Amino acid sequence: MVVSSLLPSFSSKHENPAATLPSSSTPLLYGPRPGELDLERRWPPKRAALVVIFGLLLLALFLTILIADLNSEIHANGNVSLATSGSSTASEPLKLVSRGVSSGVSEKANQVFAGVNVVSFPWNNTLLSWQRTAYHFQPEKNWMNDPNGPMYYKGWYHFFYQYNPNGAVWGDIVWGHAVSKDLIHWLHLPLAMVADEWYDMNGVWTGSATILPDGQVIMLYTGFTNESVQVQNLAYPANLSDPLLLNWVKYSGNPVLRPPPGIDSQDFRDPTTAWYTSDGKWNIAVGSKVNKTGITLIYSTEDFKNFELLDGVLYAFPGAGMLECVDFFPVSNTSIEGLDTSINGPGVKHVIKTSLDENRNDYYALGTYDEKAGKWVPDNTTIGLGLRYDYGMFYASKSFYDLHKGRRVLWGWIQESDSEIADVKKGWASVQSIPRTVLLDTKTGTNLLQWPVEEVDSLRLTSKVFDKVEVKAGSVVPLDVGTATQVDIVAEFELDKEALERTAQSNVEFSCSSSGGAAERGALGPFGLLVVADEGLNEQTPVYFYIAKGTDGNLTTFFCVDQTRSSEATDVNKKIYGSTIPVLKDEKFSVRLLVDHSIIESFAQGGRTCITSRVYPTNAIYGAARIFLFNNATEASVTSSLRIWQMNSAFIRPFRPEQDH
Ligand SMILES: *[C@@H]1O[C@H](CO)[C@@H](O)[C@H](O)[C@H]1NC(C)=O
Ligand SMILES: *[C@@H]1O[C@H](CO)[C@@H](O)[C@H](O)[C@H]1NC(C)=O
Ligand SMILES: *[C@@H]1O[C@H](CO)[C@@H](O)[C@H](O)[C@H]1NC(C)=O
Ligand SMILES: *[C@@H]1O[C@H](CO)[C@@H](O)[C@H](O)[C@H]1NC(C)=O
Ligand SMILES: *[C@@H]1O[C@H](CO)[C@@H](O)[C@H](O)[C@H]1NC(C)=O
Ligand SMILES: *[C@@H]1O[C@H](CO)[C@@H](O)[C@H](O)[C@H]1NC(C)=O
Ligand SMILES: *[C@@H]1O[C@H](CO)[C@@H](O)[C@H](O)[C@H]1NC(C)=O
Ligand SMILES: *[C@@H]1O[C@H](CO)[C@@H](O)[C@H](O)[C@H]1NC(C)=O
Ligand SMILES: *[C@@H]1O[C@H](CO)[C@@H](O)[C@H](O)[C@H]1NC(C)=O
Repeated sequence: MVVSSLLPSFSSKHENPAATLPSSSTPLLYGPRPGELDLERRWPPKRAALVVIFGLLLLALFLTILIADLNSEIHANGNVSLATSGSSTASEPLKLVSRGVSSGVSEKANQVFAGVNVVSFPWNNTLLSWQRTAYHFQPEKNWMNDPNGPMYYKGWYHFFYQYNPNGAVWGDIVWGHAVSKDLIHWLHLPLAMVADEWYDMNGVWTGSATILPDGQVIMLYTGFTNESVQVQNLAYPANLSDPLLLNWVKYSGNPVLRPPPGIDSQDFRDPTTAWYTSDGKWNIAVGSKVNKTGITLIYSTEDFKNFELLDGVLYAFPGAGMLECVDFFPVSNTSIEGLDTSINGPGVKHVIKTSLDENRNDYYALGTYDEKAGKWVPDNTTIGLGLRYDYGMFYASKSFYDLHKGRRVLWGWIQESDSEIADVKKGWASVQSIPRTVLLDTKTGTNLLQWPVEEVDSLRLTSKVFDKVEVKAGSVVPLDVGTATQVDIVAEFELDKEALERTAQSNVEFSCSSSGGAAERGALGPFGLLVVADEGLNEQTPVYFYIAKGTDGNLTTFFCVDQTRSSEATDVNKKIYGSTIPVLKDEKFSVRLLVDHSIIESFAQGGRTCITSRVYPTNAIYGAARIFLFNNATEASVTSSLRIWQMNSAFIRPFRPEQDH
């Protein structure tokens, strides 16, 4: 699973040719009308076999009671049907279906419990209703996955998404569509594209939008054909005068791209937004693989109907496997402005992001794009695809250039991490991340910064400020903010300098995921916040820093989220997420948290490291959810200053033609 040691092997030509945007006369053939359960089930030693047998009998009894749930089958359309009894025995694990893999896409079912005996929690409506988010984008019901074709058009932000209109599990995928004036409040529109052509009848899959200089809108997407081949198709708005872009036309000459020779029919998907090159053509990238090497095929086109496969690949990542949802975009090395996708030249770095089928995480790398050679050259060849957008649940992300505000905005699919049976009961699955602005971190020069779009601040209601709260080593401090299910938290921490210096060496072997979480005490951490916690701390999700100190005095900071005690239910993901994070000299430890019911999005050091987690508590819900400061270090005390806002709910509802125009 570790992709950090991928050793790319491409020579470089550092030219940085600047591409200019084309004039508005680019000819087109058609007119302008047109997202491990650590069950700790260690069986006791042999001498306790009787206890085991007795336990098994009890479990059998329990499972018999729950047989309907455990033995139910969920169909591709999300219907649950109860299997006839008799086929199940007490020792049979919760059976999980696989979704998507047989069609040649990454696993879409939550495999957290595969192969493990899990006791399904008796989720009821009260508990499940609480999980629905209040200010994250969600369809009214059913399954959603990848963000597709985000863009700003005639006053509206458009958001399309992979959607199953028939149920709360992956399958029957079409394009959902919603619009917003501010990326926060959304109006659901009718489906943009359904599976009605031979070339997409098995799925209208992921795609990207390109807005041409003359205002035309190009949508390229992957279709899964009647013969189970992944192809790329062209679609465009039926009426460019309609700011809502309600109707979409699929080009009569589809598919515009089929898998080229040597590429498997199911390893060819997710076209990028196009970028303009100095030879007067548009380029797109399509993710693929050859054996275990992930590759990015580059096509050149003038009209988005006829394409030429360019020699070589933009880049190859040995060992990465299939590259899904490739995103390729420029960032400025100086300014705080985002860059349009076609911009290149001095002071511009190019980001390659890919979603790895192999482990379902989004990785990125910084480099320069030599457009004439058709090659991307990494800044640092030793780290390969070593950086992640997010160390929690965050996949299939896609960015777009927001020409309204001159920024690059990133969307990511946040999957559920509970059981599929619970998803079907609640009738929906997945949320989208809060859109994030993406910039190069000019302080480090080696990573991106992601931060919630400024519009999120408009949801802030009353706030409470806590100034320089001392949190002694080994203590927990309650923060009196009342209910805390919808909050925005901005916090800073300062470590007691004397303890920092006194400590000789500490935790050099630490890593978030292999540690004991917030319960593993070190001299200099963990310290941070406990969110979605109940008064008695039976349920809590610690979001924290952890500092390791080397013998030479150097410090390595980790940023982690520990879900092991997030819920008393056992059938939910309880991983510990996180990574190291650069903390520069004179910087305080800082974090922003967006808590919205079952989702916690955490941004540390201005967005250098992000962690998104999904939590499913059974007690710490509604009025019982609380926030605490904690410091489980053994040596250092911590001083924290923070501000906590209650957050309003966003208006996310169906579009009403009479009122909303
Ligand atoms: C749902 O379950 C919770 C926790 O077990 C319980 O407190 C609550 O009363 C239940 N609600 C309903 C309506 O049964
Ligand atoms: C399954 O779901 C479809 C679509 O939601 C519905 O029309 C149908 O009646 C359901 N079938 C069963 C057996 O529940
Ligand atoms: C798929 O559709 C194409 C185009 O209509 C057709 O020629 C082909 O026979 C179809 N294949 C199958 C298996 O139906
Ligand atoms: C195109 O959209 C505009 C604006 O909504 C509308 O006035 C016009 O009637 C539409 N044209 C067609 C052909 O539907
Ligand atoms: C892929 O693997 C096969 C079998 O090991 C090998 O014959 C082939 O040369 C490899 N292809 C490439 C492009 O490396
Ligand atoms: C930005 O890039 C330009 C040209 O590549 C370079 O000269 C400059 O030093 C860079 N600035 C920073 C802050 O890295
Ligand atoms: C590349 O990254 C590695 C690992 O972070 C680092 O040790 C090394 O100094 C970097 N090399 C360059 C040229 O930046
Ligand atoms: C701090 O560590 C102790 C000992 O491991 C553990 O019992 C306690 O739960 C931890 N506190 C928090 C807030 O995690
Ligand atoms: C930090 O200290 C550790 C332990 O002494 C050492 O292994 C490591 O190389 C040091 N790192 C740097 C960047 O100096």
